[in-house]
Amino acid sequence: GLKIAVVGGGSTYTPELVDGVARLRHLLPVDELVLVDPAADRRELLAGVAGRILRRQGHGARVWATDDVTAAADGADAVLLQLRVGGQAARARDESWPLEYGCLGQETTGAGGLAKALRTVPVVLDIAERVRRVAPRAWIVDFTNPVGIVTRALLEHGHRAIGLCNVAIGLQRFFAGLLGVAPDRVELDHVGLNHLTWERGVRVRADGATDTDVLPTLLDRHGPAVAEHLRLPLDLVRAVGAVPSYYLRYFYRHDAVVAELTGAPSRADEVAALEAELLRLYADPALDRKPELLERRGGAYYSEAAVGLLAALLGGAPGRHVVDVRNDGALPFLPDDMVVEVPADVGPDGARPVPVAPLDPAAAGLVAHVAGYERLALDAALRGGRDRVVLALLAHPLVGQWDLAGDLADRLLAENRDLLPWR
Ligand code: G6P
Ligand code: MN
Repeated sequence: GLKIAVVGGGSTYTPELVDGVARLRHLLPVDELVLVDPAADRRELLAGVAGRILRRQGHGARVWATDDVTAAADGADAVLLQLRVGGQAARARDESWPLEYGCLGQETTGAGGLAKALRTVPVVLDIAERVRRVAPRAWIVDFTNPVGIVTRALLEHGHRAIGLCNVAIGLQRFFAGLLGVAPDRVELDHVGLNHLTWERGVRVRADGATDTDVLPTLLDRHGPAVAEHLRLPLDLVRAVGAVPSYYLRYFYRHDAVVAELTGAPSRADEVAALEAELLRLYADPALDRKPELLERRGGAYYSEAAVGLLAALLGGAPGRHVVDVRNDGALPFLPDDMVVEVPADVGPDGARPVPVAPLDPAAAGLVAHVAGYERLALDAALRGGRDRVVLALLAHPLVGQWDLAGDLADRLLAENRDLLPWR
């Protein structure tokens, strides 16, 4: 059986993952699950729930909790990263102060996303070094945002890493529901960077017959439902000719979203309230299943995505998964060492992107623009300094102006003083 360590295991998301480990044990036989978290109360609480969820389903895996990455990773087959430096409080700041400058305040996109990258990359690289010493062959699966930048940092430092996001699997499940077919028969032509993606085709595998692209039918029959799900106008979706992820609303409707967010409670505040309630539920020794309330977090199907990917990497069930991987020519207009989010064939040797049809000019332009920003964001995270923060913001399509970039950089540094290893 396998040993899996989860860094950030005290997250309220952990029962989602554990539920997947229990349900999908035919794909992934786990013997030992270690939850790593600096917060003793959280990690013990979550280890308790995790143990109960597994036992109720007759799963024999041992679950334990620690703050020691080395002990947890020792001999592990995979290490999952789902941590959040500074917690929801840091996220709440990312989501609020950019609005004062007329800019998007968001967890992973724009100036807030840059703040998150700067806080997160050094911590993740430190963890990965510890992992390498005790488990050099372990796969590092990164769910920690911003996934594109964090995964690239890991790959550049020679780690066996792969990034994962639930946007694609969420849309696959959503489309399958609309079409009334089994989700594993639905394959997406998903392309872009993490949180900057489009579904250009939706193929339903029919036994024996040729796959057909049902995206046009889907939009004809279920257009309003699709648009509502994405929180984008239907005529925009039709005009673009592909289904954008809902993160594209931050680009296509930036000013409208800023107006909507200004003065409203932040998502971080909503999540903090949800988390308080979830932690109360988890403390009940009778709770032995994933609570329904967890569905109000954004991480739906995270467990399926993670368990499916681990099963492919660890030998049991090679297959096609949408992941964040080294470009290596998949999008020929980007550098090979850029991290892209595309379907890939995944097996014990890692993920190989499947060939990608050329992007239309608008999508290619936006992807190239954000890719430039991500490169500079990573430089700033690795080497620090106000100047690099300014350059990253100047390269971001949602900032892009010198005075604004300077003001945002100063504020970002002031808001994150205690959470950055440099100043
Ligand atoms: C989706 C995204 C994740 C993001 C999450 C936020 O799952 O793919 O990258 O972290 O939404 O959900 P939350 O409940 O924290 O707002
Ligand atoms: Mn994501």
